[in-house]
Amino acid sequence: MKILIAEDQAISRELMVKMLESLGQIEAFATGQEALKAFENASISSEPFQIMISDISMPGMSGIELLKAVRAFESRKKISKQNKIKVIMFTSYANKETVIECYMGGCDDYVLKPFNRSVIIEKISKLGFQLDIDNAPQAEKSMGQMVSDAIEGFKNGNVELPALPNIVQELQNLINRPNTSASDMAKLIENDTAMSIKLIVAANSPFYGGVEKAKDVKMAINRLGIHTTHSIVSSIANKGLYNTKNISIKNLMDKVWMHSFATAHCAREIGKKVSSVGYEKAYVKGLIHDVGATLLIKNIGDNINETSHLDLDGLTGAVFEVHTSFGGTLLNKWGFSKDFVDVASLHEWDKFDKKTEQEVLIVNLADRLSYTIGYGFFNKDVPELSDIQSADLLGLTESELTVICDKAAKAIAESADAFTKK
Ligand SMILES: [Fe+2]
Ligand SMILES: [Fe+2]
Repeated sequence: MKILIAEDQAISRELMVKMLESLGQIEAFATGQEALKAFENASISSEPFQIMISDISMPGMSGIELLKAVRAFESRKKISKQNKIKVIMFTSYANKETVIECYMGGCDDYVLKPFNRSVIIEKISKLGFQLDIDNAPQAEKSMGQMVSDAIEGFKNGNVELPALPNIVQELQNLINRPNTSASDMAKLIENDTAMSIKLIVAANSPFYGGVEKAKDVKMAINRLGIHTTHSIVSSIANKGLYNTKNISIKNLMDKVWMHSFATAHCAREIGKKVSSVGYEKAYVKGLIHDVGATLLIKNIGDNINETSHLDLDGLTGAVFEVHTSFGGTLLNKWGFSKDFVDVASLHEWDKFDKKTEQEVLIVNLADRLSYTIGYGFFNKDVPELSDIQSADLLGLTESELTVICDKAAKAIAESADAFTKK
């Protein structure tokens, strides 16, 4: 059997190839255009594809456009009904509405992310293909299933959402109001005693510290300014999400925290370079861009037996597939504004157009740079500085990126302690 895969994300693409390779000959492409070309070439050869599996959400040619182009080609070539390629589309639950459009465009079935081997095999069998599935690897299946279950839990309200958004979002609302004073901000923060203490400790840490020690919340805010205070409070609130008692995921959670923290610092440095205002807002966005991944991993860790063996590669692979749409949905539910939701939803894309919001580009680039300086946690390749399209769109040269990396690395090393001390 010949299977054609279209998926823009490298990690998901590789995972899919690995899961399906025992079924036959697989060809996988990163763009709709390439997949279409391969489909057309194979159709007029003696070895056409029997199945196409395509992501719906892809930059450039979307999965739906690809599907329509495939069906249009088949009509033009008068390919008979039984020889038409079977098309399975996959998408995240957040975009379920698009499934209807896929059926109207002529797809045969759909699957929801994360991509689960047993589900896809069942779908292929239903389409009338005989499969030899004796050598199915089981690990990915159980990890994919765990991630799906975690998403269901959040969706159905069976899992309580942590308290992160309240103070972060309330502070954001306060800052958006004109004439917000340090006193207004102090009043809000002082409602939370633990937060107040941590803010004062962070304000007096070597990285943020001034000549005079801050003795109370208001003094700390006066010295730091409202925007930096917001960044620090967000860091403290966010850090709480990464606590886990489960030893088997503790290392991974620490890595996710350092990645988020590093991305925040990179976003701040990029923001300073490309936008004269709002670089602290870029910091907060960097900090929470992977919140979907954080909560999924934490939830899975909380719900498994500490002694059970966890396939961490399988786990991060399955989480990767869904963390952007899940993160966007969470932030939306938490009442974050659209700019935050966009950052969570779109930051993994490799290609953007000129209309993309600057903050999405900043966080996309910051995420890439944090891998460059050693703070990655997904199995992503470290990109070449000259290869990052968002840097191009932001007008940053390679040497400017190097300076940004150096500054961020220094700030990360100096300030990480401010958030780890009690
Ligand atoms: Fe991400
Ligand atoms: Fe990231």
